[in-house]
Amino acid sequence: MSILVTGVAGFIGMHATAALLARGEAVIGIDNLDGYYDPVLKRARLARLNGLPGFTFLRADIADDEAMDRLRLDGVDRILHLAAQAGVRYSLENPRAYVRANIAGHLNLLEVARRRGVSHFVYASSSSVYGNSSAGPLTADAPADRPLSLYAATKRADELMTECYAHLYGFRATGLRYFTVYGPWGRPDMAPTLFARAMLAGEPIRVFNQGQLARDFTFVEDAVSGTLGALDRQGDGHRVYNIGNGRAEPLMRFIHALEAALGTRALIDLQPMQPGDVLETCADIGDAARQFGYAPQTTIDEGLPRFASWYRAYYGVTSQKGG
Ligand SMILES: NC(=O)c1ccc[n+]([C@@H]2O[C@H](COP(=O)([O-])OP(=O)(O)OC[C@H]3O[C@@H](n4cnc5c(N)ncnc54)[C@H](O)[C@@H]3O)[C@@H](O)[C@H]2O)c1
Repeated sequence: MSILVTGVAGFIGMHATAALLARGEAVIGIDNLDGYYDPVLKRARLARLNGLPGFTFLRADIADDEAMDRLRLDGVDRILHLAAQAGVRYSLENPRAYVRANIAGHLNLLEVARRRGVSHFVYASSSSVYGNSSAGPLTADAPADRPLSLYAATKRADELMTECYAHLYGFRATGLRYFTVYGPWGRPDMAPTLFARAMLAGEPIRVFNQGQLARDFTFVEDAVSGTLGALDRQGDGHRVYNIGNGRAEPLMRFIHALEAALGTRALIDLQPMQPGDVLETCADIGDAARQFGYAPQTTIDEGLPRFASWYRAYYGVTSQKGG
């Protein structure tokens, strides 16, 4: 039996697939290697998987109905659906990309799950579905009906579509609301890489809402252990879990930890709040802990040095610059 992983050349997809292969699973990975960010990074991630025993790659667009209907997925029994148009801010610029990948694409994966009668459909949602729901750790039953960005709205729609399919066709389904995942091989549109690049070039970093933001930062290895735990979850029906670290780090503390990891100083350009952003994210991870033993281990003081050494190796930055 194999696992179909979509978004396999993505940040979480590559790490999750490597972990699945390491425990002896067979994986069929799909990605369209789109140009939202540099496909060179996606190809470099894929190169780490190609050739590993049990791995097959198919280049395909999940929003292409015909291609998805034609897919040959012999032996696939579980799906880990991570492909998406990610990024909160870009959803204000190019909303159609989100409807295409996250709504039409998600429906195509639900159809694959229905047609194949898979035993488990696991998919990526996002902490952004909570909007500015409330302060403090959020449980999965907190209100999630006031999205602040189209990205969040499409992720919430994915949850509702999955609820409907799991009900109609009786398969087990699990949604994972990831909270700001970071680490080696991270996305170049996210704060750690944007900040590291600017800090090492001696350029200012843009810090929104005058720095008065807080995020629950999840190290990618922890996110992957939660993802694999969820994939192994027993029990019926559709459930949604938070995959976070369980604490809200003030953004300025995150910046200081990144300064320490990179051995340089940040020049800070304070900016007003950005449309679409939320003020604080903080996960209540109790459900995931109880249901499948999720137990994140990595603080930002441990995770950021690992991100920084990957960043230097991958982008070939050896000298320290900056103020
Ligand atoms: N990284 C985070 O902090 C975070 C937080 C919340 C939710 N998520 C969600 O987790 C999932 C993985 O995120 P990530 O950070 O690895 O993002 P990523 O952009 O690195 O990975 C997504 C992958 O999906 C692929 N993809 C996009 N559209 C596609 C399409 N139409 N057909 C086939 N492949 C397509 C991309 O090429 C990319 O490789 C996404 O669903 C994202 O929305 C991530």
